[in-house]
Amino acid sequence: MCNTGYRIPILGIFVFLLVLMGGCQGLKGSRPLLPQKEYEKMIVGNLYADYVGTQNCLAACHEHDRLKEFFDASTMGAQLKKESGMPLVDCESCHGPGSVAISGLTRELVEKNARQGIKTACDYKTLIDLKNLPAPAQSLTCLKCHSANATFNLHNWNAGTHAISDVSCFDCHKVHQSPDLKVTPIKSGQLCFSCHQAAQVEFSLTSHHPLREGRVFCIDCHDPHGGISGSLLKEESVKESCVQCHPDKRGPFLYEHADVMDDCQNCHTAHGSVNTNLLNAREPFLCLQCHEGHAVNNRAGDRISPESARAFYTRCTDCHSTIHGSDVPSASGTGRFTQ
Ligand code: HEC
Ligand code: HEC
Ligand code: HEC
Ligand code: HEC
Ligand code: HEC
Ligand code: HEC
Ligand code: HEC
Ligand code: HEC
Ligand code: HEC
Repeated sequence: MCNTGYRIPILGIFVFLLVLMGGCQGLKGSRPLLPQKEYEKMIVGNLYADYVGTQNCLAACHEHDRLKEFFDASTMGAQLKKESGMPLVDCESCHGPGSVAISGLTRELVEKNARQGIKTACDYKTLIDLKNLPAPAQSLTCLKCHSANATFNLHNWNAGTHAISDVSCFDCHKVHQSPDLKVTPIKSGQLCFSCHQAAQVEFSLTSHHPLREGRVFCIDCHDPHGGISGSLLKEESVKESCVQCHPDKRGPFLYEHADVMDDCQNCHTAHGSVNTNLLNAREPFLCLQCHEGHAVNNRAGDRISPESARAFYTRCTDCHSTIHGSDVPSASGTGRFTQ
């Protein structure tokens, strides 16, 4: 039996944990999806407001000068002229109609207030609260223009793991941070690592694809917008992803290593490994998962004798050097990948 002396600290810990759990609600988690029309309603904007255009939005205000400069210099700003026939993008395309937000706001008022040390803001609470929308509604803000037809790599967005896991366009594309709307390959690594710490660890292991060295990028293999196969892969299979850069392993070979080669992950990890050559397991154990070890009298393989155990605990690929497949038969005239 515990006496009151224990109960109070235990109760304290319990309350502390409850508070801690309350704080976790902000974390990303998969929430049930609502019907599409519910998200559409969230991005309609203020029903009592009219569209006033970027010029009017900014007329009274210097606060947003820098933001406007970035925007004008971006693809969505500068390159779009009326004549281009593309949808013009202005502040209200995303933030919703703004007449209510700026009503009564004149440059004179702003400057008068400034002289008294008061900062004047527009009534931004009447605009769409983009930051706090559920992720699917945030993405819909972008998707109303970037439909799958307009932006081809968004074809698989809705079925992709990111969309399903409450990741939105805003998480990766920062509209107001700089004129660069697109994420460059070299920056994509840091962006992805911010949520994928496990991948960061894998790419730090002794054998790894040279991502930190700037020669391979996450987006070489993955499409964050959704892929046609699992794991957001760009290609239709793991093998197809790999042989783009390692075409010598594609085959077909006269002597194939059976269907083992259909998935490179039978022997390799994609990101990084503690074993050399990104191998799943060290040799000979890698091979011994599927094969029995054997003994050989000499490299040419004149005779395989069970009595002698010389070859057993060595690297199998010292002799089976064409392990990915070969067009040259081994000594016995069969495909044993020895040359
Ligand atoms: C393509 C969509 C889009 C357009 C166009 C756009 N914005 Fe934004 N804006 C956003 C998003 C998304 C956020 C929220 C960013 C975030 O997650 O912090 C935002 C945030 C803001 C903020 C708040 C910044 C902060 O630090 O909290 C201001 C102010 C703003 N936008 C002004 C403007 C103005 C002025 C224009 C027109 C020149 C404009 N926006 C055009 C998408 C857009
Ligand atoms: C009113 C329509 C509209 C909205 C809303 C819109 N965009 Fe755009 N966006 C465009 C147009 C038009 C272009 C320039 C043409 C193109 O590259 O497709 C563009 C260009 C881009 C580019 C650059 C493409 C490149 O190749 O450089 C990115 C990235 C982008 N938008 C992301 C977003 C994101 C993220 C959102 C939501 C916050 C968004 N857009 C909302 C119309 C829009
Ligand atoms: C997980 C991060 C991530 C998310 C989420 C994301 N993007 Fe991207 N996006 C990227 C990266 C990285 C690139 C550059 C990829 C490339 O060049 O292949 C990119 C490129 C783009 C481009 C340029 C495409 C082109 O072919 O030039 C557009 C437009 C775009 N994204 C729009 C969107 C929209 C709209 C959404 C939401 C529906 C979205 N993105 C969600 C990371 C993301
Ligand atoms: C805002 C956080 C966030 C960012 C940034 C982000 N991801 Fe994700 N990603 C997630 C979440 C959440 C999931 C789903 C849960 C999981 O598998 O961890 C996911 C899943 C994945 C998956 C597994 C897909 C599957 O079907 O199993 C891949 C691959 C992936 N992300 C690649 C990327 C790449 C590449 C980038 C950078 C361009 C990126 N992610 C950036 C949050 C993010
Ligand atoms: C050389 C190609 C390649 C590169 C580069 C690459 N990946 Fe992967 N990734 C894969 C393959 C292959 C899988 C496993 C696919 C499967 O089993 O279906 C995978 C799986 C994943 C998964 C799913 C969970 C897991 O670990 O199995 C995540 C998340 C992921 N990658 C994130 C990233 C991030 C983030 C980067 C960049 C830092 C990155 N990947 C770079 C090929 C690659
Ligand atoms: C974008 C191109 C690219 C893709 C896609 C790619 N690789 Fe690589 N791979 C490289 C580069 C670059 C190296 C480093 C070569 C070097 O250092 O000489 C490498 C090295 C390797 C190595 C040797 C690693 C070591 O430690 O020496 C293996 C094994 C490998 N890749 C397997 C794979 C597998 C399996 C896949 C598919 C999941 C794949 N690669 C996809 C570019 C790629
Ligand atoms: C049966 C196991 C196995 C499979 C399946 C396999 N590999 Fe390998 N791979 C190895 C072994 C073992 C090594 C190390 C060879 C050595 O040390 O000589 C290796 C080395 C490599 C290397 C680095 C050395 C070189 O030859 O360039 C690359 C790249 C590579 N593999 C790519 C692939 C690709 C791509 C696939 C899928 C198409 C694949 N491997 C499938 C066992 C395998
Ligand atoms: C995932 C299981 C798997 C792994 C791992 C694997 N193999 Fe194989 N291997 C096979 C299969 C299946 C065959 C085809 C067997 C057949 O046709 O009877 C084969 C065939 C062979 C053959 C030709 C055998 C014959 O009878 O013609 C040799 C030699 C061989 N493997 C060597 C290796 C070596 C060396 C390794 C390690 C680098 C290795 N294998 C890893 C599954 C595997
Ligand atoms: C010292 C060289 C050498 C080493 C090391 C070696 N092998 Fe072999 N292996 C051979 C030769 C030679 C043959 C016969 C080739 C022929 O038939 O032409 C052979 C044949 C095979 C065969 C097909 C014959 C059979 O037994 O049915 C398999 C499977 C095989 N090796 C797997 C392995 C594995 C697994 C390892 C590592 C544990 C390994 N080998 C290590 C040289 C070697």
